[in-house]
Amino acid sequence: MRFDRIIKGGNVVTPAGTFTGDVGILGEKIAALGTDLEATPGTQVIDATGHHVLPGILDVHVHLALPFCGTISADDYRTGTRAGARGGVTTVIDFAIPYAGDSLDQAADNWMKKAEGKSLIDYTFHICITRWNEHKSQIKGMIDRGFTTFKEFMIYESEGWQSDDRALFGTLEQMREHGTMLLVHAESARVLDELIARNHTPELMARYGARLHPMTRPNFVEAEAIERVVHWCEVTGGQLYIVHMSTAEGSDIVRAAQARGVPVLAETCAQYLVLDDSVFEREDGHLFACCPQVKKPKDVERLWQGLRGGEVSVVSTDTCTFTREQKAMWNGDWTKIPMGLPGLETLLPLVYTHGVLGGRMTLEEMSLKLSTNPARIMGLYPKKGAIAVGADADLAIIHPTAVLPVTPSSMETNADWSPYEGWQLAGFARTTLSRGEVIVDQYSVVGREGRGQWLPRTTAGLQAARMPSPPPPTADTQSKVPRPRPEPVGAR
Ligand code: URP
Ligand code: ZN
Ligand code: ZN
Repeated sequence: MRFDRIIKGGNVVTPAGTFTGDVGILGEKIAALGTDLEATPGTQVIDATGHHVLPGILDVHVHLALPFCGTISADDYRTGTRAGARGGVTTVIDFAIPYAGDSLDQAADNWMKKAEGKSLIDYTFHICITRWNEHKSQIKGMIDRGFTTFKEFMIYESEGWQSDDRALFGTLEQMREHGTMLLVHAESARVLDELIARNHTPELMARYGARLHPMTRPNFVEAEAIERVVHWCEVTGGQLYIVHMSTAEGSDIVRAAQARGVPVLAETCAQYLVLDDSVFEREDGHLFACCPQVKKPKDVERLWQGLRGGEVSVVSTDTCTFTREQKAMWNGDWTKIPMGLPGLETLLPLVYTHGVLGGRMTLEEMSLKLSTNPARIMGLYPKKGAIAVGADADLAIIHPTAVLPVTPSSMETNADWSPYEGWQLAGFARTTLSRGEVIVDQYSVVGREGRGQWLPRTTAGLQAARMPSPPPPTADTQSKVPRPRPEPVGAR
């Protein structure tokens, strides 16, 4: 068999298990897995000895060049996807949010324009429903256009994004009808407004500064909203996905609902797994404001437990980068801090270092939460999300222990700071391949911007997660290559 590239001698992580061997690539696809694949004239051999070979990471929650909080998030499709590639990310899913008066179609067009000609890696969008009465009749058309995931925010009235219970209920009914999925930002708007209003005084702001951000968002703000939307999910049967879940209470609610057979899934983000709200004690604590905010150590531990237990299916980033200058817009008033953190470049390094090397998950479990589950749940499997014959050759090759310091000045992100500045992290990509092409080599981006492609989809949710595994390896496969199991573990 002829190959364009062979990834040689790595510790290859597949859905069926891990083996030491080779990945053969022909064109954009994985053509064979084996323990002794042979190069022919013209084959490029990439040595992966002593390295882990992982499926490319899918970051299914990013905001690139998003107008938000009176400014525009600082990583666009050029810098954001270059940053992602350095962290082994080969697919991003952003949120197409209608500008004032726009239809869902126009929102998708706007986001297509942001990505086209700039994106280094493959991408698609969740379509945000912000004005239910106008948008409800446009959902089917967006599904026909290749978008199968929708999003509603339970807060952000001032941005014009907020959805009420009627919209959540009605959208979930449509998700049920079409076999598609609704993503929800779950925080309780009215209680949050009240807590903010009570604390928004010059005296308290002078006294507490950025600490008012966590002080006005107790855990019940997230828990009540998750509880409510899970209820609408249960009565409609529409597939629900809770984005950026940050609390122990939310994890308990999702776990209990899943045990009752409610079609709800949840993601958390890397920041909720490695940071807690003691960061707001720092002089530059305002930099760390994101929404929802990072919580307490007990929430951090509960989220790791949720990853192990299965109620948390995915780790993403919610990348929404703001520079120091943008963050300075707060000027002492926490309600004016542009909320969001950089994340794409450090997702894999953080989860690998704190999860796998920290003894909290295995390499295979990490691969499930960063690649296979996101691909299945978002309707991109088996094209994306696994090292398997016939899948896109999207790969991240990492050294098992070599660490690099997090140094914003030498990173691809436009952020001039990092929540993890000075941390020593393993798991940056030595090599990243996207559809068979090397886009990161020796930790540096070498891929051409604009080569990323939009990914149309036909399905999403648990229904997509239960799709059959990819076909068994070819005749080139040696007996040491694990055989795919007949049925995947769903979204666990
Ligand atoms: O702080 C965040 N997360 N900014 C982006 C908007 C959102 O709620 O995801
Ligand atoms: Zn959100
Ligand atoms: Zn977000």
